Formats: sequence, C-alpha cells, structure tokens
Amino acid sequence: MSSPRGQFSSKTGFILAASGSAVGLGNIWGFPTNAAENGGGAFVLIYFVLAFCLAYPALMAELIIGRHTKSNMVSALQKISTGAIAKNIGKLTGFYGVIIATLILSFYSIVAGWMLAFLLEPLSTVTGLSDVSIWLTEFGNTRNIIFSAVFIILTTTVISAGVEHGIEKWSCRLMPSMLLLMACLIVYVMFQDGAIEGLKVYLLPDFRQIGDPQLIASAMGQAFFSLSLGVGTMLIYGSYLSPDENLPAMGAIVTIVDSSIAFLAGLLVLPALFVAQQQGVTIYNEAGNLIAGPDLIFQTLPTLFHSMGAIGIPIALVFFCLMTIAALTSSISMLEVPVSYTIENHGTSRHTAAWLIGVVVFVLSSLIALNFDRLFSVVVTLTTEYSQPLLGLMLCIFATWVWHRDKMLAEIRSGHPQVEQSLFWKIWPGYVRFCCPVLILLMFVQNILN
Ligand code: PHE
Repeated sequence: MSSPRGQFSSKTGFILAASGSAVGLGNIWGFPTNAAENGGGAFVLIYFVLAFCLAYPALMAELIIGRHTKSNMVSALQKISTGAIAKNIGKLTGFYGVIIATLILSFYSIVAGWMLAFLLEPLSTVTGLSDVSIWLTEFGNTRNIIFSAVFIILTTTVISAGVEHGIEKWSCRLMPSMLLLMACLIVYVMFQDGAIEGLKVYLLPDFRQIGDPQLIASAMGQAFFSLSLGVGTMLIYGSYLSPDENLPAMGAIVTIVDSSIAFLAGLLVLPALFVAQQQGVTIYNEAGNLIAGPDLIFQTLPTLFHSMGAIGIPIALVFFCLMTIAALTSSISMLEVPVSYTIENHGTSRHTAAWLIGVVVFVLSSLIALNFDRLFSVVVTLTTEYSQPLLGLMLCIFATWVWHRDKMLAEIRSGHPQVEQSLFWKIWPGYVRFCCPVLILLMFVQNILN
C-alpha cells in the first residue's frame, strides 16, 4: 500500500477520461462495420436500446463499486464481500478481469500499431520513400512488432505519469482533438458523390433483421466492448472520482458520449465506403456483403485516399491520426487495470509497475503477432465475446447480491442526496439484481449456441 491514490481533479477530467476509455477502435471501426453487416439502422436501433438498458446499468455497477472501495478490481470485490467464500470468488473474478484487460491491450496494441504505420505512410509518400511506404502498409512481422512496441511505449508513458498528470491531462488534450478531426472528415465526406447512398445503408433499418439473434448478440458484444465493461477499467476510473460527484449522471454522460461518437463514426465510415465505390473501389466481398474487417480500414479506405489525388494525403493523415488517438485514450485505461493492481497490492511504485507491465504486454502482443493466424482471432473472441459479458455479469451480481444493500445505496446517495427522488434510485437496484444478470446470461448462451 505505497503511494497515495490519485484522483481526477475535475468532473470534466473524469468525463473525458472515461469517455476516452469508451471511445476507441470499437466505436470508429467496430460500430459502423457491425451496423453495415447487421441490417444497418436495425442494428443501430438495437444497439442504442442495449447500450442504455443493459450496458449503462452494468457501467453503474462498476463505477459505484469503484468509488466506494477506492481500489482496483481484485481488492474491490473482496472489500464488498462478507464471508471467506465470497471474498475468494471476488479475488478470482478480480484477477480474471486484470488478465483479460492485459490480453485485450495485447491485441489492441497490434491493431493500434497498424494505425500508427498507416499514419506515417502519407509522409513517406510525400517524401518519395516508396519502399518505406510499402513496408509500412504491408502485413509483416517486423512492422507489426515495431509499431505495437511504439504504441505500448506511448501508453506506458502516459500511465507512468499518474492519474491527474497522465490519464486526465492526456484525455483532456486528445479527446477534443479527436472530435475535431472527426467532424472535419464527416463534413468533407458528406459532400462527395456516393455519400448519400452510404447514409441510406447505415440509417434505414431493415426491420426483418431486428429480432435476429445474431444481430442482438453482436449488438450486446459491441455495447460491452465499447463501454469498456467487465475488466475493471470503469471500476478503477470510478475509484479516482471524488465522493462529491453525482455518479448516475456521470455514467449517463459517458454512455451518451460513447454512443454519440459511435453514431458519428457511422456517418463517416459508411458514406466513405460508398464514395470509394464511386471511385471504382470494390466494396462488396465475394459473398456479396460489405467489406468490413481489417480490409475496410487498411485497403478500401486507403485506396479511396489514393484515388483522391493530392487532397487524399492530408485526409489519410487526419483519418489515421483520429484512429490512433481514439486507440490511445482506450489503451491507457486498459493498462491502468494491471498497473493499479500492482501498485496497490504489491507496493510497487507507479513508474516501475507501468514499465514492468508494459514489457509483459509487449511480450504477449509479440507472441500474438508472430502467431497471428492462430492466435489473434482466438484472443479477440475469448476476451471480448466471452469474458467481457461474463465479467459484467459477475460485477452486477457482486454489486447487488453480495454487497450489503444499504452500503450500496449509501454510495449512490453520496454526492447527490436528491437521487432518492429519481427514477434511477427506484429502478436500478432491482433491475441490476434481477434483469441484467438474466439478460446477459440469455444473450451469452445464445452467442455460444450460435
Ligand atoms: N472501449 C474501447 C473501444 O471501444 C475498448 C476497451 C475495451 C477499452 C475494454 C477498455 C477496456 O475501443
């Protein structure tokens, strides 16, 4: 129990940091492509329902536990438990969260590394270094490992500077820059031929798909990933929040910001895809579906940027800068999970803990990169599709079944006594106790059966 705990210096600092964690590649890449694959507007609609009815309540469970216990997930779940069995299950669940956060960061940093490489590509094109351009944009072990290392170093540098001077300071700089870049790109793309067709695919719901279990499972996975749930990132950010803040409102703002940015990203990516089609780029794969995975970001869009001539260069630069920033504000929150655990439970200094875990993440990420075909999608599925919902379920159970109800209610009241008159106060405790676990479990089983 060495250094004193950090704290966000302001409400805005917390909102930007937590939204920064939530808004990431999941929003700008995952959300639009999931929407394109799953019935456009139908997916958008179901996603919003699930984000507010399932992910927001689960987010609140994490924030409330975090702020009350003022500790990392491993200690937090032990602290709110009474009895040896519950404490041990809490400890194991906490460890599971720490491991999953570390694994998510390991694959995330490979993808974020690609964004960095593609960010440098326009510069090498301008300076005439065509060999470098090819190296930067072609899939290769050396490139993958070098750029994921650079990205991990950036992440570790921010985390080793602490809560206020690292996480908060950088979130407050990066989030507004990201929004600005995104707004510029949307405006530009909207005026290009083909954009309206993309908008239609994105926004017009195909109602036949609305009850499709595949669509619902994708929307839930997307909502949990996007709000960074289950792995203790929101719990630890909540633990750095002052007891004077109105927690339900903070959580609602973060959910609204996250969903709005995902929605905005759709206004960028899908129209851009159809603008690319106008320029002769293929946007449907052999099966007749819209190109969605890595090919969308690393082939279709770059081809579009190239076909735009001189203006394509700054556009590509802005686009990959946007992606890199979004990834960075998320990755710092992932790294904070194992780092805060190491600092608080092993008495390590922040600097040592951050760099030590940075090295572990680098080793894991290199292992995944070197065995890409075998490991990458396995790790993604294991962490995001299976572990995140399961951990979210455990957190709901801990907040409402294991934790003493009066203490939990007292924590919600802290900083906002009028909350007792709100709908949140009347609905949330019972809802998270009964409905959320059942809903998450149902969708989880459905996902496995699929
Ligand atoms: N929410 C982030 C995104 O949308 C990913 C993330 C998952 C961040 C888990 C932290 C923890 O990209």
